Amino acid sequence: MSELARTHTCGALRAADRGGEATLLGWVHRVRDLGSLIFVDVRDRFGVTQVVARDDEALLAQAKRLRPEFVVGVSGTVELRSDETLNRKLATGEIEIAAREITVLSEAKRPPFQIADETPVSEDIRLKYRYLDLRRERMQRNLQLRHRVVMAARRSLDEQGFLDIETPILAKSTPEGARDYLVPSRVHPGEFFALPQSPQIFKQILMIAGMDRYSQIARCFRDEDLRADRQAEFTQIDLEVSFATPDLIFGIVERLMQAIFAANDESIEIPFPRLPYAEAIAKYGSDKPDLRVEMAISDVSGVFADSRFRVFGDTVAGGGVVRAFVVPGAARFSRRQVDDLVAEAVELGGSGLVWVRRAPDGKVQSSILKAAGPEPLGRVLAAVGAGADDLALIAAGAPDDASRLLGQLRLRLARRQGLIDERRRVLTWVVDFPMFDWSETEGRYMAMHHPFTAPRDEDRDRLDTDLGAVLAKAYDLVLNGNEIGGGSIRIHDQPLQRRIFELLKISDEDARSQFGFFLEALEYGTPPHGGIALGVDRIVALLAGEASIRDVIAFPKTAAAADLMTGAPSSVSPRQLRELHLHTNS
Ligand code: AMO
Repeated sequence: MSELARTHTCGALRAADRGGEATLLGWVHRVRDLGSLIFVDVRDRFGVTQVVARDDEALLAQAKRLRPEFVVGVSGTVELRSDETLNRKLATGEIEIAAREITVLSEAKRPPFQIADETPVSEDIRLKYRYLDLRRERMQRNLQLRHRVVMAARRSLDEQGFLDIETPILAKSTPEGARDYLVPSRVHPGEFFALPQSPQIFKQILMIAGMDRYSQIARCFRDEDLRADRQAEFTQIDLEVSFATPDLIFGIVERLMQAIFAANDESIEIPFPRLPYAEAIAKYGSDKPDLRVEMAISDVSGVFADSRFRVFGDTVAGGGVVRAFVVPGAARFSRRQVDDLVAEAVELGGSGLVWVRRAPDGKVQSSILKAAGPEPLGRVLAAVGAGADDLALIAAGAPDDASRLLGQLRLRLARRQGLIDERRRVLTWVVDFPMFDWSETEGRYMAMHHPFTAPRDEDRDRLDTDLGAVLAKAYDLVLNGNEIGGGSIRIHDQPLQRRIFELLKISDEDARSQFGFFLEALEYGTPPHGGIALGVDRIVALLAGEASIRDVIAFPKTAAAADLMTGAPSSVSPRQLRELHLHTNS
């Protein structure tokens, strides 16, 4: 039995192989028992091949024993299938193997779900029996795509002069903004390693160390709330470049993205357009706009500056804005549908929403027709370019709030109206991010990207006067409304780095204890540098058309950050705890 040697994979045989001998090893995919004729589909990661048992009683008896997911070895002759049994959808569909011998290498319990049919199975069951789920075609396809993406990325980076360097997993806390996973030290009682949220500090140190261009397929760990596009541990294509400008980084990443898309047989145009953050927020209400549809938001504050509709007039007088966008083809929404939109806006946290359109007779209809009168509403329709079939939605408030609300509705309605072409790929750089973000809960400014990001040269003076107005040399890469990467040009001089820590209210003492080594390293000749990290899981999920990154990760965690297959996290023995100098209350 152990002698059985595979001659072909289950995806290899073609009509040209007819008459030849073959031995396949794989899993029983399906069995069709026609009495004196038994068809067995045998599967491996390369494909499925039909095997037929006939004539020989002992062989038929053996084939009758087979159940799905048994592991078998089959030897026989490659034969052409008859015209009626040709399967053009299958790469091996022209042939079958007339079995001479079938060997069971391993029996299988009845699986909790079908492997051969892609019938829906609850995700919990899929994750508990991940080894079975991974046998299914969809997951096989996704993991093979992931492999090709990672290989293409490595090749492209190698060609572009990057050195692949591993950085520690047992590391020190880095301030990426999420909670750290901590690992207690046995040797140093009461002290902890932190799993890296990203290799940020190490890659900057590698620039100081003269490595010029570093890259790594890096595992990152963040203890944050998990969602469809977020995992506790995830993978980045991480890179850092010495003597970098944003243009240099963009060119490198654009070539890299071309190689990644090519791994999925797709071509994309470069360079990618660049959209300033402020414009992204104003026009699309998001710093990761989905640009597969335009439906841009316009400012119509001017129309209402001295309007008799007090709510909008007062908003504008108080420094707020009135903004609007057009939903193509939505003029025919029923009264109920438009009222539901207003309710939806309130659910999204908006203070209200106004709609306006023209009736078939050309008269203006609107939720504020009586209060505002038809004239300004007609002007809004003209200003936003609404046609006879369109509906305009209007919101008022603080500039960012109005746009963010309309931005969410824009996306939902574009989807609902079927305006998003799912096959399109629109990549954009979002640039000129604010350097700081005011945190109400912390009562201080926080770094919007991370505290190593450099401010724009022209904004350096504002560090002393107006932190909220300082823009950073930071950029995100956005694909179809998803943030797939983020990076920046870094601060390379120590006094400025110290000053940024100060502005972030990171005390001297904290800065020294957390990043003293880094501040010191900055003083030994630091090249100007910058970089970016791309989310592998998100990129592969988008290429594969999967809604969740869990479907492109071999062993993901649930939304509750647990591994249902292994049962991690789990309790450990009192002895392990003692050795680690830990006490728990549970
Ligand atoms: P950032 O935190 O923006 O930057 O992360 C870069 C990219 O990593 C992906 N990503 C995630 N993917 C899955 N699950 C998560 N929890 C998760 N968090 C982030 C996203 C994101 O765009 N050190 C900086 C990079 C740099 O400045 O060079 C960093 O990590 O696709």
